Amino acid sequence: MINVPRNGVLSAPILQVIGLIGWAFIVYLVYDALIDAVTRAGFISQSLSGELHPQVAAHPFNARYVEMPMLTLAHVIPGFLFMILGPVQFISSMRKRFPRLHRVSGYVYLLSAALVALGASYIGFVLPIWGWTLNQWVSLLSSILMLYFLYRAFGYIRVRNIKLHREFMIRGFAVGLSISTLRLFLDWGQLAGMDFTLAWNVATVSSMPVTLVAAEMWIRLTRPVNRGHR
Ligand code: HEM
Repeated sequence: MINVPRNGVLSAPILQVIGLIGWAFIVYLVYDALIDAVTRAGFISQSLSGELHPQVAAHPFNARYVEMPMLTLAHVIPGFLFMILGPVQFISSMRKRFPRLHRVSGYVYLLSAALVALGASYIGFVLPIWGWTLNQWVSLLSSILMLYFLYRAFGYIRVRNIKLHREFMIRGFAVGLSISTLRLFLDWGQLAGMDFTLAWNVATVSSMPVTLVAAEMWIRLTRPVNRGHR
């Protein structure tokens, strides 16, 4: 069973079930994002060594990455780290048994998040991002939000406010994780009959708000009651 803080709104077994479902989703989304990162990094390595099939390289979606290999890697490599370290930071038994490891990997996580966000803001405009122009602004907003949440999380742990540190870490990770929700929504959109670009556009504008709302609901369901202080 997982360790879930309670606030009395829902019973412990129900919270446990919701928590397990949430973790199952997170594991799936993280796995998918890692596969995407490795695939895109492999693509760049093939492109640099001249092994990429010309038809694959010439596809308009891929051609943008072929033209900017270093920028792509500068986004994808810290993105990979972000996805690996993010979930580990939330495992309470790891935090309790290895507090030093939690602290060190927390710094690496924050650094990779900063690199991902800076790279994404830049990439969104120079690549440019596929589809609607609006997508570039959504991507920029996601980067700013993620950095803001993680900055607040860092600020709270510096003053030992663990409750708010946890909440802002959840929000920050949720924004980063939403790039994987995007891929899931992209698949669903195409299954529902949308063409690739329409499904991409819909997924880009909807994935971050949906992931963030899910995170916010979890925060509210598990926010400990502050007894005695009003
Ligand atoms: C705030 C967080 C993030 C934002 C705003 C963001 C934004 C973007 C943008 C705008 C692109 C270009 C999309 C296009 O092809 O038009 C991109 C590509 C990509 N990003 Fe991110 N990203 C974020 C985090 C991450 C993370 C954490 C990973 C980790 C796996 C990641 C992996 C990738 C990959 C693999 C690509 C290449 C796209 C593909 O192969 O389909 N990104 N990202």
